[in-house]
Amino acid sequence: MTLTASETKSDDGALDTTLRPQGFDEYIGQEKIKRNLRIFIDAARKRKEPIEHVLFYGPAGLGKTTLSHIIAKEMGVGMKVTSGPAIERVGDLGSILTNLENGDVLFIDEIHRLNKLIEEVLYPAMEDYKLDIIIGKGPSARTIQLDLPKFTLIGATTRLGSISNPLRNRFGSVHRLEFYTEEEIARILARSSSILNVAIDEGGGKHLAAASRKTPRVANRLLKRARDYAQSRDAEIITEKIAKEALDLLEIDELGLEPTDRHILETLIEKFGGGPVGIQTIAAATSEERETIEDVYEPYLLQLGLIARTPRGRVASPEAYAHLGKSLPDEHANKLL
Ligand code: ADE
Repeated sequence: MTLTASETKSDDGALDTTLRPQGFDEYIGQEKIKRNLRIFIDAARKRKEPIEHVLFYGPAGLGKTTLSHIIAKEMGVGMKVTSGPAIERVGDLGSILTNLENGDVLFIDEIHRLNKLIEEVLYPAMEDYKLDIIIGKGPSARTIQLDLPKFTLIGATTRLGSISNPLRNRFGSVHRLEFYTEEEIARILARSSSILNVAIDEGGGKHLAAASRKTPRVANRLLKRARDYAQSRDAEIITEKIAKEALDLLEIDELGLEPTDRHILETLIEKFGGGPVGIQTIAAATSEERETIEDVYEPYLLQLGLIARTPRGRVASPEAYAHLGKSLPDEHANKLL
């Protein structure tokens, strides 16, 4: 199977659960967030209250769900998992909320995709643990109010900008997950390889870390694919050579770029003279959805400094030209200003 960065769901579900850190002590990186969460949890436990609602945002695969599991675990409560698009009707949300136990965590992934009607039911639930139900229609309609268990809502989104102000303001804290350093990714790979019982040497680890898009989910996937490759070659250890061959087969380069990333950069450079060009135009020219480019590919390209966002659109950086082996036109420097 070929991997693409656009795969949002895991292919090795059971293994991912094995690799998921169970507590803050095992969770590598995101130090600032861990520091804050530990304090919230410690204080809430002393008060014997649930912690306030938490919103996590940032690129996919950085550990929003994992952090939520850890919060529930450290609070000693249960966690229900759902997502914005899965809650289609007000009744769906009502049944989820009324089935929670006191103190439980409700995790809503892709919370920016909740529909407006459902969002409005969520407001009093978040604020006062009340559920307003309308019974009947027309002049005889009336509202009854149900008391809900005290719960903690944890929302996760790749797009903070798509969350309405009233919803965002009801979270007690909002945390942005950052890309990991290569050193953190190397530590995650070392941890995962010892859990999976695969041998990887320093060169192999460094090569995989550099291609992991600064993202633990990608790192763990690449590790599994390198393990497959090593086994198929009867190699006992994932060395730099084995790692490189495994990634070559997947068409992933040493920066972690996939064919789609390179296609986006090539289009920007060849069809649009390096930009500036609007995201919608890039989407049309590459036959990718605008949202996919914005959520899956662009964050990492921006992070690497291969593209820049300017008021007039996206621009390829000199590093992008160099990475693709293209010469930089003299007039290009002005575009980045
Ligand atoms: N596996 C996935 N994400 C991780 C993290 N942040 N720390 C340790 N192991 C992980």
